[in-house]
Amino acid sequence: MPHTPTRENAQTEVEAYLAEQGQKGLLRFLTCGSVDDGKSTLIGRLLFDSKQIFEDQLASLESDSKRFGTQGQNMDLALLVDGLAAEREQGITIDVAYRFFATDKRKFIVADTPGHEQYTRNMATGASTADLAVILVDARNGVATQTRRHSHIVAMLGIKQVVLAVNKMDLCDYAQDVFDAIVADYLAFAGTVGLENITAIPLSALQGENVLNPSAAMPWYTGETLMAALENAETGAGRIDGPARFPVQWVNRPDLSFRGYSGTLATGRLRPGDEIVVLPGAKTSRIDRIVAHGGDWEEAVAGDAVTLTLADDVDVSRGDVIASMEGRPETSDQFQVRLIWMHEEHLLPGRSYLLKTANQIAPAAVSELKYKINVNNQEHEAAKVLELNEIGICNLTLASPIAFEPYGTDRTLGSFILIDRLSNHTVAAGMIDFGLRRATNIHWQSVAVDKRARAQQKHQRPGVLWFTGLSGSGKSTIANIVEQKLHEMNRHTYLLDGDNVRHGLNRDLGFTDADRVENIRRVGEVAKLMVDAGLMVQTAFISPFRAERRMVRELLDEGEFLEIFIDTPLAVCEQRDPKGLYEKARAGEIKNFTGYDSPYEEPEQADLRIDTVALSAEQAADEIINFLKQRGYLEADDGGE
Ligand code: ADX
Repeated sequence: MPHTPTRENAQTEVEAYLAEQGQKGLLRFLTCGSVDDGKSTLIGRLLFDSKQIFEDQLASLESDSKRFGTQGQNMDLALLVDGLAAEREQGITIDVAYRFFATDKRKFIVADTPGHEQYTRNMATGASTADLAVILVDARNGVATQTRRHSHIVAMLGIKQVVLAVNKMDLCDYAQDVFDAIVADYLAFAGTVGLENITAIPLSALQGENVLNPSAAMPWYTGETLMAALENAETGAGRIDGPARFPVQWVNRPDLSFRGYSGTLATGRLRPGDEIVVLPGAKTSRIDRIVAHGGDWEEAVAGDAVTLTLADDVDVSRGDVIASMEGRPETSDQFQVRLIWMHEEHLLPGRSYLLKTANQIAPAAVSELKYKINVNNQEHEAAKVLELNEIGICNLTLASPIAFEPYGTDRTLGSFILIDRLSNHTVAAGMIDFGLRRATNIHWQSVAVDKRARAQQKHQRPGVLWFTGLSGSGKSTIANIVEQKLHEMNRHTYLLDGDNVRHGLNRDLGFTDADRVENIRRVGEVAKLMVDAGLMVQTAFISPFRAERRMVRELLDEGEFLEIFIDTPLAVCEQRDPKGLYEKARAGEIKNFTGYDSPYEEPEQADLRIDTVALSAEQAADEIINFLKQRGYLEADDGGE
């Protein structure tokens, strides 16, 4: 959709600036530390003292988030910010501010993470492309739990270079023994998480000591200033070696004569004529043209934002990865991964999230949470869920395969985020350890008699009536009558009821959030099998979470899942209390009771809502039968009426 850029002037200015700076190296780094450590003061000082602040212009460009497709063949500045624009386009908010500054020697992009609450999220999103991490420590406090946690994450994210910035030395009389003690303490710890390349610098961000200029107050320190350390650090040039990987950010189709694939080359080099493979589909072709700022290029190298055209008419979509034939990445739909959980609502194994890596997107669920890691002592601990800021090792199952690399080999195809499908929040950052083969080796067994054949034999249209509502709302009672009525109409039915299933298939499950997710996952799978067998299924489960009801809807084919909300207010359920459970819950004898200390998320768009205050169970069942007729489930010629 054509869209006019609003800030052309700023854009030209910044482009000119970047072109001028283009010859210099680029260092991406991130800063970790809580607000009190003086992080903002430090960044402020780096930006201010280097006197080249372009963040305003860039911020205005960034906010102009819908410019995709508007740049034609010009360089798209947003691509410099590593897919940030792509994330915005999808409505994913990530609270990382990227700041730009430069010295005579090189330019810098610092991922600045505001606040301390969400630091893991910010760190993880800012870190996947960072060359270096500045870890701030308050000299008065020394190495804190947060320092260890940050360092662990930095190591996990594969950042090899660390600057330990011991700040606020002015508040410790610039004393060498204070600094030495902190450094010794940190080095002893850093070894245990595998960080080796560490430069420790005593400084005062507030007074500007050892930031840009060597400190007169600390003559005992003869090492580099912070700026010198940043100027001398290694940049991501290494990415140019190795096989080419180009995650397609968008399909560029200004008119019928041109079809190109835009994005940033993550690793390697590409030249026209190179043989490539498009993953995960595995179609092959050759690079035809590399179109970029200023015309056609002879070669693109890692970090270049370009548009590729291919020699053959292969189908390439946003999210696909164009890779060199040699050393092509693998594809899989099951992985062992490390997850950093970044949200207040904890990880629930079995729940379906959206996984996004490079530009690929697929629904994904944790099939097994193996253990979590205590970041203070590296010990493995058993876990049923992951809470905010916890790190876990898990198996992940995707709904469709993606192209991947282990994180240790390639950070672009080895890192991902998980997004909550209802709120759109980024809830986790992850790293792929390796792909699991077992899924790849299990194929669907094709069967001669299929769902259609089975349904035809029964003269009916299979589907699931999914009853949801509070305990005691009347789900089982109404579902029972509906089943009876269907049975009388010669329909082949089955009623899956919460209390019954929990005596058999799900007798290992209780009422924690995680167990309820698993309960519904299993019931969803069973219902799907029954639909496949041609049955009309009724299920009566509280099924308190929207995410799992939606997951079951997605398991089934279009129109097979009908969500029926048995809408009985809590007060009425309490009063009816058919099983005496509300009385027990009130007395504190039952924990995690729905409506008390466990949530119920009402359906937002149920297919049918039943008001049991206004209707008797019999009337409710009639209304459901009528609804089925309206929806075409009880056509006369379907059944034996
Ligand atoms: S669900 O939340 O996982 O969908 P399910 O429908 O299977 O729950 O089971 C709910 C039934 O278990 C209730 O109708 C009630 O009889 C019983 N029950 C026992 N303990 C609880 C509890 N803590 N919360 C809700 N229901 C409970």
